[in-house]
Amino acid sequence: MDATIMKILVTAGPTREPIDPVRFISNRSSGKMGYAVAAAGVERGHEVILVSGPVALAPPKGVRLVRIETAAGMLSAVRKHLPWCGALVMAAAVADWRPRQRAPRKLKKHEMAPRLDLEPTTDILVSVAGRKGRRVFVGFAAETHNMLAEAARKLSEKGLDLIVANDVSRPDSGFEVDTNKVTLLVKNGTRVALPVMSKCRVARRIIRWIEAEAESRPGKRCGVSSGRRRQPPWAIHPVTAL
Ligand code: PMT
Repeated sequence: MDATIMKILVTAGPTREPIDPVRFISNRSSGKMGYAVAAAGVERGHEVILVSGPVALAPPKGVRLVRIETAAGMLSAVRKHLPWCGALVMAAAVADWRPRQRAPRKLKKHEMAPRLDLEPTTDILVSVAGRKGRRVFVGFAAETHNMLAEAARKLSEKGLDLIVANDVSRPDSGFEVDTNKVTLLVKNGTRVALPVMSKCRVARRIIRWIEAEAESRPGKRCGVSSGRRRQPPWAIHPVTAL
């Protein structure tokens, strides 16, 4: 069994796109799924950088936390740390749109237009696809309908190795809750529908898949550290409990 220490870059949480200093556009992401992926990475003995939007969670022990606010901030953090990593896991719910203008001071009610003028944000995964090299790229697809078709489209359009199709139509899955219902769609066409399980268990499945995928690739690996991987003493759950 390979025990290489991987360098894993994980994103989590929402982004906030400011309208003025007190208002923003955002979404319901709590960061729980991405933080669970980061924790599972450390639990398996890997090095993890976690790029996080604003959330109310304590960073998992052992991760290096990079806090950002906006989609542009997340883009520059991912670009900065990409050369370091051997795997990228984009669990963040990045805003697709942002206000075209940010007012420098709080807008009075009468100064606000009834419509917001929006512009698209940069798609982070698409923008770093050309720098993927031998890295393993994992995305998520949060869907309320046509989940598998939408996830398959994003898998291909974003140049991913794996996409985690996330059913966000159920009360026990998706945003904010501690459990998740996902289907793993692999680039080679394999699909694995998982039952509802804790986000920690989903995260361990993803990390184990990344390890196996990296091991299966011939040739020199990128984004690895020297030394043998060991579980840190604080790892509560035995990894065999997947
Ligand atoms: O944080 P929690 O409350 O635990 O909720 C978890 C979650 C539902 C947020 C998470 O499991 C999830 O599904 N994250 C992805 C949500 C999402 O934004 O999906 P999407 O279909 O819009 O984006 C597809 C992929 O492209 C994602 O990997 C996303 O990070 C990435 N993306 C999106 C927009 C953008 N501008 N750049 C991107 O790279």
